[in-house]
Amino acid sequence: MKILITGARGMLAQAVRKKFAEDGQNEIVLTDLSGRKVGEEEISSNGNSEVDSLFLDITDTESIKNVFNEVQPELVINCAAYTAVDKAETQEELVYKINAEGPGNLARACAALGKSEDWNGMEGGPILVHISTDYVFGGSKPITEEYLEDDEKKPETVYGKMKLAGEEQIAISGCNYYIFRTAWLYGHGGKNFVETMLTVGHSASSEGIVKVVDDQHGSPTYTEDLTSIIYQAVTKHIPFGIYNATDLGFTTWAEFTEKIYELSGINCRVIGISSAEYEAQAKAKAGEDYKVAKRPLNSKMSKQKLLDAGIEIPTWEDGLKRYLEIDNQAKN
Ligand SMILES: NC(=O)c1ccc[n+]([C@@H]2O[C@H](COP(=O)([O-])OP(=O)(O)OC[C@H]3O[C@@H](n4cnc5c(N)ncnc54)[C@H](O)[C@@H]3O)[C@@H](O)[C@H]2O)c1
Repeated sequence: MKILITGARGMLAQAVRKKFAEDGQNEIVLTDLSGRKVGEEEISSNGNSEVDSLFLDITDTESIKNVFNEVQPELVINCAAYTAVDKAETQEELVYKINAEGPGNLARACAALGKSEDWNGMEGGPILVHISTDYVFGGSKPITEEYLEDDEKKPETVYGKMKLAGEEQIAISGCNYYIFRTAWLYGHGGKNFVETMLTVGHSASSEGIVKVVDDQHGSPTYTEDLTSIIYQAVTKHIPFGIYNATDLGFTTWAEFTEKIYELSGINCRVIGISSAEYEAQAKAKAGEDYKVAKRPLNSKMSKQKLLDAGIEIPTWEDGLKRYLEIDNQAKN
């Protein structure tokens, strides 16, 4: 299968690229805000997994058209996004372009390619895989309940509002799509919560105390597990649509940190603090003007729809163990 990955230098994209290259059946074109521009020179395929690295800005419809015409992808995996949730609060226009219009542009390009004379793939055009977020829900549901895919959306942040707008643009584009809403994502090759807490834990070991938010509930998700969900969905041909997609089980950031320390042999006590305390601390550090995006208190998403479709999903504890094993090997 010919696969085009956008935002290929990002954290999730690195796991996606590895997984889809593994079976040796796929030709993969990596794209991001760097690389060769279409028309500059011919694509040189190595005949196996990875074809080329191309420049593709998902906010630029002309450049999408050129890349799609040249590559003729059967599957487009959109890992490109604006992901700085606090900064997003003061950059609404840019975030709209990247997180709402960007996926919309890709979806419309998939639908258009499917209608073009050159297209001889699946009816409806290439499949678009897009990654969304728990932030679309807002998190105000009682903590005892889990979010279902069709629950009311009440995003509280610029990031959440724009990701929801991106979903909506895809849904009306007429393309074949999967939208996977994930949360609390960590993986190799990116700045992530686990690495931050490991660093804090090592440097705090003289005092032996770390303060972590304990009133937000969700599912830590290893990029390799989200990638496995995407891979299974595509290869098992589950129905197109929107799916909640995280590792199984729920926890808090404080409990997650305790588990990280337990599995890493770090002797550090975790003290729970509220989101409000965390926000006050962040402002004290960065200045009163610093905007802290309101984090959802309830990020618990039901994965029943994916499970019913026959997708296997590990628990967050299992994902963390596998991440730390590979992380330790890389560091030693
Ligand atoms: N990290 C999380 O906790 C989390 C949680 C829920 C959902 N998500 C979603 O998962 C997806 C992957 O997140 P990630 O953490 O791997 O992201 P990331 O920030 O590591 O990577 C994003 C990539 O997008 C690229 N990019 C930015 N603007 C672009 C543009 N205009 N055109 C093309 N590329 C552009 C960047 O260069 C970067 O390589 C995103 O859609 C994100 O919203 C992430």
